Amino acid sequence: LIPFEDLRRVNRTFEPDFREAFSEVVASGRYVLDAQGAAFEAEFASFLGCGHAVGTNSGFDALVLALTALGLGEGEAIVPASGCPATTLAVIRAGLVPVPADASPETFLLDPEDAGRRIGPRTVAIVPVHLYGLPCDMDAILRLARRHGLKVVEDCAQAHGTTFRGRCVGTFGDAGAFSFYPTKNLGALGDGGAVATGDGEVAERLRGLRVYGSRGAGKGGGAATAGLNSRLDELQAAFLRKKLPRLDEINGRKNLHAARYDRSLPPSLRRPVPHAEAGAARHLYPVLHPRRDDLRRFLAEEGIGTSVHYPATALSLLGNSPGRGACPVAEEIAASTVSLPLSFGHTEQEIDRVAEAVGRFVESEGPA
Ligand SMILES: Cc1ncc(COP(=O)(O)O)c(C=O)c1O
Repeated sequence: LIPFEDLRRVNRTFEPDFREAFSEVVASGRYVLDAQGAAFEAEFASFLGCGHAVGTNSGFDALVLALTALGLGEGEAIVPASGCPATTLAVIRAGLVPVPADASPETFLLDPEDAGRRIGPRTVAIVPVHLYGLPCDMDAILRLARRHGLKVVEDCAQAHGTTFRGRCVGTFGDAGAFSFYPTKNLGALGDGGAVATGDGEVAERLRGLRVYGSRGAGKGGGAATAGLNSRLDELQAAFLRKKLPRLDEINGRKNLHAARYDRSLPPSLRRPVPHAEAGAARHLYPVLHPRRDDLRRFLAEEGIGTSVHYPATALSLLGNSPGRGACPVAEEIAASTVSLPLSFGHTEQEIDRVAEAVGRFVESEGPA
């Protein structure tokens, strides 16, 4: 059997290090917001090449708190129509109205041209999502943001170590939100997240917001800002500190698996083509097939697990309200995408077996 993902296989490699981390934290007597968290924040910021990283309880909270810390209490935010519902829902949680823009038919990521068409007088932010471990076109997105005076919060939940023009995503915009959910390339043994930012004041505000909220930033106090209880605990920080030094190895192995698929899957099978300036840290490997459910059933009978990222667009999440404008590329991706196994825990032989089985299905079904 080839599971879509088996985290036991992934984390077995790190178990001796995790046990050491566990003992250290238990012995320290300090379990929330202490030395491990601070050290992880410094190490992660240094890995990304940005000034500050602030740990949170999840990637979702990282998005909400980043938007809040930038002072974006109202208005509209452009989000990709194709992607994880968490992004759109975090925008709503932060008090903003999400406005979906279509996906690029090449990269499957936020299409900057379509995003430009959706910008209006109430738009205050743009939230590009570096999905699958592939980077959005940050040149075009930053150009848009500058032209219209928008804040940029990058959703990097699937892109730890992904680069654009050689620079880590999460360091281009005003803030970058990361998730350490166990399945992520840098995954904890529970929930976790972080916001990256180059702005010290934003980092300070985040440190207040994750502990219930803060007194107004203005001198002499001011009104309290309502925050959350959203802290990266010491155990998860200590586990992540053991994994971070080997993140390049994790990304490297997943990139090699993706390259095997690139070479051996039928060329007729559509998949995202990374931007020319992309340095991928592959997280997922989606392919499109019009008979997606048949393909999944066929692979299941072959003992191969698959998944779907994601079956619904942001438009359908928002109830397809009229006047929003269609997102045909995102609709097509949602209806036909299937994610093939792509784990640090998979062997090359397993990846080859998956590619071979997909090839047989495509041959028997005619061109995709
Ligand atoms: C693109 C994207 N954004 C946001 C999130 C939310 O992260 P979390 O599950 O840590 O809250 C996830 C992961 O689940 C994600 O894949």
